[in-house]
Amino acid sequence: MLAASLAACALVTAPPASAAADSLHPNLWPQGSHSARLAESDAVVDPILDRMTLEEKVGQMIQADIASITPEDLRSYPLGSVLAGGNAAPGNDVRCPPIAWLQLTEAYHRAALAVPATGHPPIPLLFGIDAVHGNAKLIGATIFPHNVGLGAAHDAELVERIGRATAEEVSAAGIDWTFAPTVAVVRDVRWGRSYESYSESPALVAQYAPQMVAGLQGRLGTADFMSPGHTLSSVKHFVGDGATLDGRDQGDARVAEAELRDLHAAGYAPAIEAGAMIVMASYNSWNGVKLHGDRYLLTTILKGRLGFDGFIVGDWNAHEQVPGCTKTDCATAILAGVDMLMAPDSWKELYQNTLKEARSGEIPQARIDDAVRRILRVKVVAGFFGRGGNQAPGEAQLQRQLGSPAHRAIAREAVRKSLVLLKNEHAILPLDPRANVLIAGDAADDIAMQSGGWTIDWQGAHNRNEDFPGATSIYAGIERAVRAAGGTATLSRDGSFIKKPDVAIVVFGEKSYAEFEGDRETLKFSSGEGKELQLLRRLKRQGIATISVFLSGRPMWVNPELNASDAFVAAWLPGSEGEGIADVLFRAVDGTVPFNFSGRLSFSWPATAMPVTFGPAGTVSGALFATGSGFDYRSSGNLPPLSEEARIPPGWQVPEGSLLYTGRLIAPWSMFVADQGSQVHVTTERQRSPHEAVGVVRGPEGIEAQWSGNQQGTLSISGREMDLRALASGGGAVSLRYRIDRAPEQRVTLGMRCGDTSCGGPDGATFDLTAAFKSAPPHEWRTLEVPLVCLGTGHADLANIEAPFALTTAGRLELTIAEIGLHPLHSGTAARCP
Ligand code: BGC
Ligand code: BGC
Repeated sequence: MLAASLAACALVTAPPASAAADSLHPNLWPQGSHSARLAESDAVVDPILDRMTLEEKVGQMIQADIASITPEDLRSYPLGSVLAGGNAAPGNDVRCPPIAWLQLTEAYHRAALAVPATGHPPIPLLFGIDAVHGNAKLIGATIFPHNVGLGAAHDAELVERIGRATAEEVSAAGIDWTFAPTVAVVRDVRWGRSYESYSESPALVAQYAPQMVAGLQGRLGTADFMSPGHTLSSVKHFVGDGATLDGRDQGDARVAEAELRDLHAAGYAPAIEAGAMIVMASYNSWNGVKLHGDRYLLTTILKGRLGFDGFIVGDWNAHEQVPGCTKTDCATAILAGVDMLMAPDSWKELYQNTLKEARSGEIPQARIDDAVRRILRVKVVAGFFGRGGNQAPGEAQLQRQLGSPAHRAIAREAVRKSLVLLKNEHAILPLDPRANVLIAGDAADDIAMQSGGWTIDWQGAHNRNEDFPGATSIYAGIERAVRAAGGTATLSRDGSFIKKPDVAIVVFGEKSYAEFEGDRETLKFSSGEGKELQLLRRLKRQGIATISVFLSGRPMWVNPELNASDAFVAAWLPGSEGEGIADVLFRAVDGTVPFNFSGRLSFSWPATAMPVTFGPAGTVSGALFATGSGFDYRSSGNLPPLSEEARIPPGWQVPEGSLLYTGRLIAPWSMFVADQGSQVHVTTERQRSPHEAVGVVRGPEGIEAQWSGNQQGTLSISGREMDLRALASGGGAVSLRYRIDRAPEQRVTLGMRCGDTSCGGPDGATFDLTAAFKSAPPHEWRTLEVPLVCLGTGHADLANIEAPFALTTAGRLELTIAEIGLHPLHSGTAARCP
C-alpha cells in the first residue's frame, strides 16, 4: 500500500531549485525507513480520499489563524486545521480564563465534524498552538525553562517528562497539536530565536528531539502513543534555521550540503524515528533559495531519503516569500512539497486560488492526493477520527492539569538543573539561608522576564506578575527559603537599603522577545550606561558580596558584569518556577547542600561581544567558556579578571546615535503599522494595518508609506529599550530623510513610545510635523532633524524609550522614507521646539 501511495505522490524530483543538481548528494543523507504505522493507516485513508471532493481536499491543505476564521466559516471552507498564533486568543483576549480556550477548541472541533460529508466520515480538524515551553499561552499554565536552559541540563529523560506534562496541559484544553520541538542547531546566537534551541551541538539536539517527541505524543509502539493526554508534535524549522548568516531571522543559510545534513538536520531523523508525523518548513533560505520553494530538501530529502510519510506544514505566511508567490497564491510551495500552508489571514483567497490551480492541473491531482493522504494519515494515526462527545476533555480535567503541582515540580527540577555556575569566587555560594539577603535588579521579581517570549502572547513583553497565577518569581522563591530558615530577604530593585545586607543577589538580563525582535548586531549585554553594572560596582564598593543571576535567551558578553560579581549564575529563561533558583543558591540550615549545580553550557560563551566561530573538526574559537563548562560546589569557582574590551569590529557597532533604517532596517529594529485594530509587524514587501489606515511598501528608494485617511494610523520603529537622556542633553536628534508624495490633509506628529504608552501623555512626547510636511515641496527629497529635547517633557520620559520613531496621522498622507536615524545634531536645518 505504501509503495503504491508513494508512487502516486510521484516524489517529484525535477531539477531542484537549490543548486545545480549534479552538485547535490541525496544518497549521503541518512536513509530513513518509512513508517509502517503511517503506511498501515492508508487502508483507512485511501477509501476516504477516494470519496472526497476537490474542495474538501484543498481545504485540508490550508490552516487559518483563529483571529481570522470562525467555527461557522468551516461550513463553507472545510479547512484541515486552525492555529492560535502568538497573539491570537479566544475573544482576542490573551488573558482570557483557560475555560474559554476549552470552549473555543470545542466549538471548532464540533463545527468541523458537522460539515456535511458525503460517502465518508466527517474529517476532524487539527487545532495547533505554540506550546514551546509548556502550554504557556494559557493563564495559569506551567511554564518550563526555554530550550536553551534544557540544553544546559543535559538530561534527556527530564525532557521527555516535560514533553509529557506539556502534552497534558495542551490536550486538556482541547488542543491537538503543538509547534514543537524546535531542533535548530544555532551557530550564531545573535539570532533572537536562540533560546528555542537546545544547543549548538548537533549531538545534543539529536538526543533531545526524539525524547521531546516521545514525551508529547507518547512512546511509539506502546499503548501510550497518542492516547488521551498526548498531543501531536511538529519538528521545526526544516532546515537550516540556526545556520543563517549573521544569525538573521528568516535569513540565508550559506552552508555546504554536508554541514546542512550533519549539523542542522541532526534532529530530524531521530525525531521521525520516534514518531514525529509533522515537520514545519522554515522561513530561511538555503544558499539563496527559500525552503518553502525547495523541492530538493522538502521532497527528495525529507520525504524521500529520510522516509518521512507524515505531512509538512508551512510557517506563518512563509510561502509568500517564495519568488512568484503571494500570501494568497503559491502553487510553487505545494509543488515543492509543503502539504499544508499556514495561511493565518490569507486562507480564504489562498483556498480559492489553490482550488483554481488544482482544477487547471497546474498542481497535479497526484500532488493534491499525496498532500491530503499525508494529512489524513496523521489524523487517523492520532486517533482523531470518530472522537468527540464524551472523549472531549472537560473543565474539571483542564483545572486538574493546568499548572498542576506535579507539573510545577518537574519545571522546578528543570530550573535547578539548567543553572550554570560561571563564577564562584572564594566559594561564596552556597549561601547561608539565615543571612540578611538583599535582592536587587530589574528581573528580581518579574515572572515575565523569567519566562521570555512565546508566553501569553507572542513577544511576551507586556506581561505582569498578576498574569501568572500559581507562579513564583525568583525573589519570592528566595524570600520563602530564607524566611523558613530564619533569615531576612528584602526586595529592592535599585539595590538601595537601610540595613547593610550580608549579601546581595542581583537578578538582571534580557527583556522578553521572540522572533525578529530578538535579533542583535552584537552580544554585548550592557547598553548605554550599564545600569546593572553600576549597581554591581556600587554594591561592591559598599563592601557587599554580589551574586549575579543572569536571565537571557543566549550566552552574552558580560565580562564587566562577571568582574563585578563574586558569583555569577547563567539562569537562562527559567519560566514560572522561580523557586528552583533558591534551591541551588542556598545550603540547608545544617550546612548540607541539598542541590549542587549540575548545569553545564550547551552553547559556547563568547569572550568578546561577537559570536564564537566554528572551525573544522568541532573547533570553536572566541569562547570564554567552552560547551560543557560550569562550576559546582565540589570545585573552585575562581576566575581571573577578564578583559573588558568588547572588541566589536567597525561596522557592527550600534552606538546610540545610529541609523534605524537606511533602505533596510538595521537590527535590532523592526517596523510596525498600527491603527485601532492593533499593531502589525512589517515582515513582507507590503503590509497594511488591520483597518488599513496605513500601509507600507518596500520600494526601490525606501519605504513608501500611505495613510488612507479612514482613521488614525501609525508607522513606527521599535526593537530595543533605550535610555536617550544622554543623547538628548548632548543635542541629539531624530533624523528623517523623506520625500512627500502627497501632502498631509491633517495633523501629523512624530512621537516616541515607552513600553505600551506614549511617553508623557498624548502630546508630551510628540512633535508636530504638519507644517514641515505641508511646506515641503512635493516629490523632492529633504532631511529633517527633530531635537530629542523637543520630544520629551523632561528627561524622565526619555529614560525608557521602546519605539524611538512613530509617525501618526488621521488624514491622507503619502511619503517615501529613505533613512531614519538617531544621532547628534548635524545640520542647521533642525526643527525648533515649539
Ligand atoms: C514561527 C513558528 C510558529 C508559527 C506559528 C511563525 O512565525 O516561525 O515557529 O510556530 O509562527 O505561531
Ligand atoms: C503571530 C505569530 C507569528 C508571527 C509571525 C504574529 O503576529 O502571532 O504566531 O509567528 O506573527 O509574523
